Amino acid sequence: MNKDSKIFIAGHKGMVGSSILRKLQNEGYTNLVFKTREELNLLDQSKVKNFFASEKPEYVFIAAAKVGGIKANMTYQADFLYENLQIQNNLIWSAHENKVKKLLFLSSTCVYPKDTPQPMKEEYIMTGLPEPTNEAYAVAKISGMKLCEKLRQQYGDDFTSCIPTNLYGVNDNFDLENSHVMPALIRKFHEAKINKQPTVSAWGTGSPRREFMSTEDVADGCLFLMNSETVYDYVNLGWGEDITIKELTELVAEVVGFDGEIVWDSTKPDGIARKLTDATRMTQLGWKPKVELREGLTATYEWYLANVTH
Ligand SMILES: NC(=O)c1ccc[n+]([C@@H]2O[C@H](COP(=O)([O-])OP(=O)(O)OC[C@H]3O[C@@H](n4cnc5c(N)ncnc54)[C@H](OP(=O)(O)O)[C@@H]3O)[C@@H](O)[C@H]2O)c1
Repeated sequence: MNKDSKIFIAGHKGMVGSSILRKLQNEGYTNLVFKTREELNLLDQSKVKNFFASEKPEYVFIAAAKVGGIKANMTYQADFLYENLQIQNNLIWSAHENKVKKLLFLSSTCVYPKDTPQPMKEEYIMTGLPEPTNEAYAVAKISGMKLCEKLRQQYGDDFTSCIPTNLYGVNDNFDLENSHVMPALIRKFHEAKINKQPTVSAWGTGSPRREFMSTEDVADGCLFLMNSETVYDYVNLGWGEDITIKELTELVAEVVGFDGEIVWDSTKPDGIARKLTDATRMTQLGWKPKVELREGLTATYEWYLANVTH
C-alpha cells in the first residue's frame, strides 16, 4: 500500500476496526474511507455495491461482523449466521467486482474444530465439527475464509484471511452479560476494589490455559499482511504462547489494584483445557506480536477508567 492508497476499513468503530484505523493513521496513511452503520448498513447488498462502485477502494480490511459472547452466540444463532454471511458476502463480492487490489478478512479461532489438537495449526480447519455453542459464527467465518480462498484460486484476487487469537484492548465490551474473559475480569476487580469487597469469586479451578493478544498487535499484524506478498490463504495471528486463567486473574487483580482474596469456585465448569494458536506461519513470514500482557492490560485498564467508569 502507498500512503495515499484508498483504504476502506469496514467495522472501523469496533474493537479491531478502530485499532486498524488508529494504526493506519499513525503510520501516515491519508486516504482512509470508513462509514458508520447508519451511513452504510453492510447487510444491504445494493448499498454496498453502490458504495464500492462509487468509492473504488484499493485495499479493504473486513473487521465488521456481528460479534458476541457465548450467551449471545447460543441464543441468536440464526442472526449470527445470516448477518455475518450477508456482511462478508456483500463486502467480498463487491471487492471482487470492483477489482480491489488486496482484501484482508478477519476471522476467528472459533473456526477450529472443538477437539482440535493444540496448538492449533491452520491446516486443522475443517477437519472436525466446531464447538456447538458458536457453530453459526464458525460456519459463517469459515465461509468468508473459503470465499476469499476460492476467489484467489479462480480469479487470482489477492484476498486473504487472518485468524486472531483472543484479543483485548481499548474499545472492548465491558458489559458483564456479553463480554469476553479479560474485560469481565477487569470490571469485576475494579468494582470489588471500589466497593472494598474482601473477596472476589472466580469460575472453575483456574487451570485452563488461554492465549491473549493486544488489539495494537492485531492491527500491526493486519497491516503487515496487507503490505506483504500473500503466501497463505489464512494465517493465525497470535503469540503461540498461553497462560493459565489463574495467572491471568492474578495479573488483572494486581494491575487493577485489588488486594483482597480470590476464591476459586471449582463447582463451576472450566471449559476446554487449552486453546492456543500455532504462530509458525506468521513467525516465518517475519512478524511477531510486541505488546506484553502486563503492559497491554495496564493500558486497557487506563482506557476503562477514562471511558467506561463514571
Ligand atoms: N474481539 C476478539 O477477541 C476477536 C478475536 C478474534 C477475531 N476477532 C474478529 O475481529 C472482527 C471484529 O471483531 P470486534 O471484536 O472488533 O467486534 P466489534 O467490536 O463488535 O466490532 C464490529 C464492528 O462491525 C460493525 N457492524 C456490525 N454489523 C454491521 C452492519 N450491519 N453494518 C455496518 N457495520 C456493522 C459494528 O458496527 P457498530 O459499531 O455500529 O455496532 C462494529 O463497528 C470479527 O470478525 C471477529 O471475529 C475478534
